[in-house]
Amino acid sequence: MKLVLATHNKDKISELKAALNSTQVSVLTYEDFPDMPEVIEDGKTLEENALKKAREIYQYTQLPVLADDTGLEVPALGGAPGVKSSRYAGERASYADNVAKLLKEMSQIPKEQREARFRTVMVYLDGRYQIMTEGEVPGQILEEVRGDGGFGYDPVFYYPPYKKTFSELTLHEKNSISHRGQALLRMIKALRENHIITEV
Ligand code: IMP
Repeated sequence: MKLVLATHNKDKISELKAALNSTQVSVLTYEDFPDMPEVIEDGKTLEENALKKAREIYQYTQLPVLADDTGLEVPALGGAPGVKSSRYAGERASYADNVAKLLKEMSQIPKEQREARFRTVMVYLDGRYQIMTEGEVPGQILEEVRGDGGFGYDPVFYYPPYKKTFSELTLHEKNSISHRGQALLRMIKALRENHIITEV
């Protein structure tokens, strides 16, 4: 079965490809569709954005599509950066810009109020099925970056059970506990239950 990843984010593609490696799914990306449109993420929720990405890319490729939208939610900031996680520090913000803005916004927030969670909404879409799954993982925002791996907010996202930031985990470790990894596991289960994929 062919599955198109509805993203231009190379970091997400690496994680999703690694996690789908053990399945019979043949993964396609924007590299296979050079003119694949960049979907404008103007939804008010992760659910809206994930659906929008899946629908637009399905319309373009006419092949089964997998889309995800992810946000970092910090209760002490009223849930920010949330659905705006990719552009927290502005439209063309880099990962480092967004992390710097987060640390600045949280500079007065004491350790015990620095809880956060990553949440991913994932959508599978083909001509017949639309399936939505979710994954989330709780952690804490550190006061400075730690680690070299991962991407986005990973260097400041501390995962207490492992006593490490997500940037200090291997790809395999991150996939086994992360928001995206959990959403994908649930998706694979749903795809199997609906006989969309047979062997995993
Ligand atoms: P989106 O799902 O492409 O809208 O992602 C939003 C933003 O969240 C990205 O630009 C990253 O900054 C951040 N992000 C998404 N997934 C992760 C992750 O697994 N770790 C850290 N940051 C992430």
